[in-house]
Amino acid sequence: MRSIVIEDHFASWRAASLGALAEGLAPETIEWRVKQEPESPQEQALFDYGATSEEAEPRSTAVHVSKELAALLQDAALYRESQRWAFLYKVLWRWHHGDRAAASPADTDGARLHRMAKSVRRAKHDMIAYVRFRKQTSASAVQTPEYIAWYEPEHDVLAWAAEHFAQRMGRSTWMITTPRGAAFWDGQQLHLEQRRALPGDHRCDTADEAETLWLTYYRSTFNPARLNEAALEQHMPVRFWKGLPEGHLIPAMISEAKSGARRVAQASGVGALAGKTIPIEADMAQPARDQPSSLDTCRRCDLWRNATQAVGSSGPSDARIMLIGEQPGDQEDLSGQPFVGPAGQLLETAMTRAGLSREQVYLTNAVKHFKWEPRGKRRLHKTPGQREIEACSYWLERELHTVRPAVIVALGATALTALLRGKVSLSDHLDAPFGVQGGWGIATYHPSFALRQQADADREKVLAEISNALIRARELAESATPTATKQQQ
Ligand code: URA
Repeated sequence: MRSIVIEDHFASWRAASLGALAEGLAPETIEWRVKQEPESPQEQALFDYGATSEEAEPRSTAVHVSKELAALLQDAALYRESQRWAFLYKVLWRWHHGDRAAASPADTDGARLHRMAKSVRRAKHDMIAYVRFRKQTSASAVQTPEYIAWYEPEHDVLAWAAEHFAQRMGRSTWMITTPRGAAFWDGQQLHLEQRRALPGDHRCDTADEAETLWLTYYRSTFNPARLNEAALEQHMPVRFWKGLPEGHLIPAMISEAKSGARRVAQASGVGALAGKTIPIEADMAQPARDQPSSLDTCRRCDLWRNATQAVGSSGPSDARIMLIGEQPGDQEDLSGQPFVGPAGQLLETAMTRAGLSREQVYLTNAVKHFKWEPRGKRRLHKTPGQREIEACSYWLERELHTVRPAVIVALGATALTALLRGKVSLSDHLDAPFGVQGGWGIATYHPSFALRQQADADREKVLAEISNALIRARELAESATPTATKQQQ
């Protein structure tokens, strides 16, 4: 049995391994030992290749490994496990003797190598993502780094991560301390110190100004409606929370979100309500309850549960033209404004062509909450049902009553159904204006119908139809009191 003493890093192992291969030492004949500080004279007497990167390698052999294996070995070398050096030598030995399976995930050793490298790569990523520097404010006679961070990496990735930060933090001086070592950047040079965990290791507990700002920002951007605990914990595993300044905020924010302490309360199990829907008249819905005093608190149907917020209208309340859409989409749901997403952009194009601006028209929707279903990470639009349209007609009625527009444009079938209070066919109403609510009604396509057209020519055709309907709406709004061609209500 030969004992090979190396320093606890890849370069030292590599140099020693090349020497061992040159000697023809089979893996099972070697005991790999890591040099302890201070080095004992007895250890020096052992079979020691003295294999630091700077020292000359006593005898070595050329080993050609694939790029992929070289990367795997380098990453796996950072894996925290006492047997790693012996294992890596075994892989190298097999490869060197023509056994290419050693690097294959289908092989037992290969699979272990891949697993180790993968785990290290994850630890590298985590360290870059979760190290938080805190600015030091204490005026001390002793020169301390401007920024200090405490982190507990899962593998020996400190040196790698330190290089990463050194390249990005310019001249600012900083230090990262970990239980097993520290990295210090003096503005020009990186200093690494390996050590075991010391009981006195301190974490920096005072928040700097940037951190206070960061916490405020983090809290304010947290959207309880979109809380997905599983995803949160997957992207920011719980074990990292203690090292993050925002970590202590997360449990409280989760529990607040769950208990509904927010403007529009929603359950965390968004869309998870089981049960059968019983169709009822909107007027009969929750008859014992007072009417909601504001849209925000509307519970007339179930759509509020899955939406971020109710989306009201935009535009002047004395507008001559009212445009009614279907329901807010994903972007409207997040911003709280109607028609700000892709359909809104297309509508704006049609309005511009028709000589109308957003400031001139009253924009609203038949249904005020976003109805959607999850598809992977996306929220896919779902057409509102008759019951939801009827429940929401309470709000539309109020808007019609307040604005009293001369012309109402229904964008799509849902809007037309809401306006005419019953299931109607859009195609039957496309051609001519009709009388409604003491004014004119015009029906046209919804802008998202244009967006759904594959061919440019088809999209342009639908857009032209919408623009023409808006031109008609503008002309009617500018003209005298309407004489309805076909009074519907
Ligand atoms: N579609 C609508 O009908 N309304 C919006 O506000 C956005 C998209």
